[in-house]
Amino acid sequence: MIDAASSATADFVVVANRLPVDLERLPDGTQRWKTSPGGLVTALEPFLRVHHGAWVGWPGVPDVEVEPIKDDDMTLHPVPLSTVEVADYYEGFSNATLWPLYHDVVAPPVFHRHWWNAYQEINERFAAATAKVASENATVWVQDYQLQLVPRMLRELRPDLRIGFFLHIPFPPVELFLQLPWRTELIRGLLGADLVGFHLPGGAQNFMFLARRLAGASASRSTVGIRTRLGEVNVDDRTVRVGAFPISIDSTALDKMARSKPIRQRAGQIRGELGNPKTILLGVDRLDYTKGIDVRLRALEELYADGRINADDVVMVQLATPSRERVEHYQRMRNDIEQAVGRINGEFGRVGHPAVHYLHQSIPREELIAFYVAADVMLVTPVRDGMNLVAKEYVACRPDLDGALVLSEFAGAAAELTRAFLVNPHDLDGIKSAIERAIRAGPDERHRRMRTLRRQVMTHDVQRWAQSFLAALGSDARS
Ligand code: ADP
Ligand code: G6P
Repeated sequence: MIDAASSATADFVVVANRLPVDLERLPDGTQRWKTSPGGLVTALEPFLRVHHGAWVGWPGVPDVEVEPIKDDDMTLHPVPLSTVEVADYYEGFSNATLWPLYHDVVAPPVFHRHWWNAYQEINERFAAATAKVASENATVWVQDYQLQLVPRMLRELRPDLRIGFFLHIPFPPVELFLQLPWRTELIRGLLGADLVGFHLPGGAQNFMFLARRLAGASASRSTVGIRTRLGEVNVDDRTVRVGAFPISIDSTALDKMARSKPIRQRAGQIRGELGNPKTILLGVDRLDYTKGIDVRLRALEELYADGRINADDVVMVQLATPSRERVEHYQRMRNDIEQAVGRINGEFGRVGHPAVHYLHQSIPREELIAFYVAADVMLVTPVRDGMNLVAKEYVACRPDLDGALVLSEFAGAAAELTRAFLVNPHDLDGIKSAIERAIRAGPDERHRRMRTLRRQVMTHDVQRWAQSFLAALGSDARS
């Protein structure tokens, strides 16, 4: 339920590039709100609802001025962006410079000074908006690569605040980060926080090294917190804590939905609609070149061509949320993927029985869960991914202990989900044989692996992630 809100301040504020809902303009001129894409929103939204906080972010379309709104248990504070600012700050610096650079330069990053100028300006705007929303001594939790300058800018405006920052994507190796012309400014921006969090210890270590080298931070010390190992760096007479906090999902909620009768019935229907194949392979991703959708399609095509599987028995479903459609790499990748789907279906499908079912759509949550329940083998093959929540969602949706997860070693989730069928996404033969092994695994092996995966996912949920981060930040907002 979305209503206009008063301009009251909040003790707990999340700041992210996007609000958890996007404004959608319909062809008849009306507008409505819909859930925003991506794992950041999936993870943070349930936590913020419970904690009645405020969320500062962009409403997802350019050139709109929207008043603060009350969305059930949280207040949303829209930050406007113009068309040019979306092009320079969001599509440009955030998604054509930082995104590929931080994902191991799997596509070449583009460096433009006017994009950097826009990034600074928009980070200023987010910092100013947050300074207005936060109560005295509030906790502010800044999210992700689009807002790395905000911690420092916000501290200058509001030294009373407790500021945390979490990076949802990988933090790159030192040599790659050093390519950035504005590397020192970014590191100094992050050091404005009291706590800087990453998914994995490697990211935290890279950051601490760069803080010393680029920002003159002094030697670090490690302390062991309740659930996490923390480093510390000293800069400008302040201590900044640095740590690894692997993000997760609302596992219990997903488990419960997956057990429900309507979802199980829908899963059965999906299998029927696909022609009752022996094996359903599933991919679920934002349509992003880091996700390795092309890699898994190539593996599938070769498995069909080699005769190791056939399209009467094994079909694949690829659900792909549209993403960043005006950025060039994304356009090129979409063409390549859609050509591959067409080629595979042309070669191996039959009338009424395609081998690959491809939807370029975001689908409703219940329907997505029914797909997880229906899928025999889940394919998660990114060439680089901060965490990958889809892998954890699949595991949470398998209380029946059935189903097999094929998972890239280059996803953050692989550090926890070690009993998946792990693959190197650059090794096509390795992926082919992992998919084949996952298809052929007997019930004993599937159950053994899934039981171990579920032990991790069900005990390490998003509440635990948020609480351990906020505990390390020393915030009351965790309770
Ligand atoms: P990223 O944050 O890079 O998009 P994650 O795997 O961490 O990747 O999170 C993706 C989120 O988006 C998950 O919660 C997943 O369920 C959701 N999602 C991905 N594709 C779809 C789709 N086609 N329809 C609906 N939700 C999707
Ligand atoms: C990833 C990023 C998020 C981003 C999401 C969706 O999860 O870490 O910051 O919001 O993708 O991408 P978009 O560009 O559509 O916001």
